[in-house]
Amino acid sequence: MLTETPTLAPDGLPYRLITLRNAQGVVVTLMDWGATLLSARIPLADGSIREALLGCASPEQYSQQAAYFGASIGRYANRIAKSRFTLDGKTYELTPSQGENQLHGGTEGFDKRRWAISNQNDTQVLFTLTSDDGDQGFPGTLNASALYRLTEDNRISIEYRATVDKACPVNMTNHVYFNLNGEQSDVRSHKLQLLADAYLPVDEMGIPHDGLKDVAGTSFDFRKPKAISADFLADGDQQKVKGYDHAFLLQAKGDASQVVAHLWSPDEKLQMKVYTSAPALQFYSGNFLDGTPSRGSEPYTAWQGLALESEFLPDSPNHPEWPQPDCVLLPGEEYVSLTEYQFIAD
Ligand code: BGC
Repeated sequence: MLTETPTLAPDGLPYRLITLRNAQGVVVTLMDWGATLLSARIPLADGSIREALLGCASPEQYSQQAAYFGASIGRYANRIAKSRFTLDGKTYELTPSQGENQLHGGTEGFDKRRWAISNQNDTQVLFTLTSDDGDQGFPGTLNASALYRLTEDNRISIEYRATVDKACPVNMTNHVYFNLNGEQSDVRSHKLQLLADAYLPVDEMGIPHDGLKDVAGTSFDFRKPKAISADFLADGDQQKVKGYDHAFLLQAKGDASQVVAHLWSPDEKLQMKVYTSAPALQFYSGNFLDGTPSRGSEPYTAWQGLALESEFLPDSPNHPEWPQPDCVLLPGEEYVSLTEYQFIAD
């Protein structure tokens, strides 16, 4: 189903809202602005319905928050240090969006664009976007698509694709936040499992300097499920960024048939499994959510939602030595990144 809002987006046209439904009663809504996931309502075994995603009360509020709720991020998710990288001997200067660094594709990233709706039915929608040569400083014209599908086994499946006419780093992700409690509450009460042996320490600005570190013996070891609160702020790496805001290099190494993360609500009535073809997952515990508009009367406070963003490691254009596939997309190739969030209700 597609509807248009009476309110207008920053380009002066209505927001277009899309509703997907499956036979299990799951209802997912999206909008074309930012190819954004707005809501996922999951029926529980006791007959109640639980909202799994953080969100704002109206589409216009999405332009007034800096949390990137549910948005499609491009061309390059996470940070590029000093907004600069060198490719084939040429240095590209990007639009900085967090201090001197570029975060989430620049000041006018893909989250702030109107995507075209190329086709749509009850269970899927395909969005497309063209990013011009030089957009946010990136080389070449890039054509992107985002395919969202709601499956009968309760997965929100998100497939990003892109092609370019000049070599360019590409790292697309969806920045959806989860709280499986269904109401505004501290997400650190959730249990999390992350099937990753290494994480990437960062400085106060989220920039990695020293390469990957073994999770063993650190607060970053989620290989066995543990409450997020268990080791929260337990060491310097977390304290620098007010909690978890780090990329984990996944054991699955891009095999999207393997579970890479598993999340449980405190009452265990709702669980979520994550699958991805991306090499890494940024686990962000919502450290800077304070003041972000919510669906209710009170804004969110810090740590009320978490993101599990499928990505290349941050700042990869400046670290070709890292053990993951090359993040540079060449003309004639196609970038494909698949991520699935599967909900399991008890
Ligand atoms: C970043 C956080 C940032 C958040 C919202 C995450 O991907 O790692 O540092 O606050 O996005 O911008």
